[in-house]
Amino acid sequence: MLTYEEYLRRVPKVELHCHFEGTVRASTFADLARRHNVELPTEEVGKLYEYDTIYEFLKIFAMVSSTLIVREDFARAAYESLADGVELGNLRYREMFFNPTLHTRRGIPMATCIDGLIDGISDAEADFGVRCRLIADVYRQDDPAVARQMVEEVLEHRRPELIGLGMDGAEAPDPPEKFVEAYRLAGRNGLRLTSHACEDAPAQNIVTCLDQLGCERIDHGYHVLESPDVTARCRDEGIYFTCCPTSTAVVYGWPDLSAHPIKDMVGAGLRVMLNSDDPTMFHTDIGQEYMRLCTALGYGTDQVRKFVLAGVEAAWLDDGERAAMRSSFTAQLDALEAELDGDRPGTAPGPGTGPGPGTAPEPGAVSPPSGRGAA
Ligand code: HPA
Ligand code: ZN
Repeated sequence: MLTYEEYLRRVPKVELHCHFEGTVRASTFADLARRHNVELPTEEVGKLYEYDTIYEFLKIFAMVSSTLIVREDFARAAYESLADGVELGNLRYREMFFNPTLHTRRGIPMATCIDGLIDGISDAEADFGVRCRLIADVYRQDDPAVARQMVEEVLEHRRPELIGLGMDGAEAPDPPEKFVEAYRLAGRNGLRLTSHACEDAPAQNIVTCLDQLGCERIDHGYHVLESPDVTARCRDEGIYFTCCPTSTAVVYGWPDLSAHPIKDMVGAGLRVMLNSDDPTMFHTDIGQEYMRLCTALGYGTDQVRKFVLAGVEAAWLDDGERAAMRSSFTAQLDALEAELDGDRPGTAPGPGTGPGPGTAPEPGAVSPPSGRGAA
């Protein structure tokens, strides 16, 4: 028999919103820093990933990036990142962001970065069967010309594993229209397009991403709910939202997951799938994201299945790959559901859909889940 939490950890998963640099194990960050003589703010590995705001977070994110120097560093960190996803959440497929300019501006050649990442993801596929594709992210605080040049360099070093362009960084000060040119160039050259939007900025940013940048998916998207028109449009057009419970709970002030906007997005009929964003930096993993959100919101197996299969539909796979993944995931979901014990949301008595003891994070908690340590 499976407990509901074990079931949530073990359902097969697609992840479409996960930043490579935010998946580096703290222990690897410390090790690489030592090797490359990068000074760290603390000697204590367990305290490396401590911050309160998106701006502090982004500083540490850049510091992690600064310890990735040679191709082997990128390969090692990418391999470990996928190994963790497989072990902790039965990750089967990921489209993973990376921020090229955080590396190239330090003099790391684009080829070192891309080739190293692909070494790591190829080894992980060979060892664990997990597949991974790459999305180069525009860093919003860069100049538009820097972003455009990044896209040019990505296209020069393009390999089949690199399939898309995305955008991250602090959203409020740098809205998406700044990067129309970079997106048009990427789109003309066949890269798929997505962008972080409405993390901490108005719903209009989604309209800009869809209409001016040509985005197919929206990463985060929570403030969409502030505009009934944009919400209706996204629902009608079947836009997929790649949502991240813990990271936004921590940084954007929805510490109680039972009140996270994901609940109302689902309620409004939007297509939502779940992701870990920056798992090591947020002391989470893709298994925890399902466990925390679904227990906090009392979601039963039907909604879990919807999240999982939305990931399959939203992935940038070809039709044959998607059909194969859909049927394999459906068979695995059926088998796991058959193993479940009776104690799960939707079967318990009483109106409460809140978390049972120990099933949800403490408000604002960023401490590592038990058993994971500071890895
Ligand atoms: N938002 C903005 N910038 C980021 C994120 C995010 O979710 N993750 C890494 N950089
Ligand atoms: Zn993100």
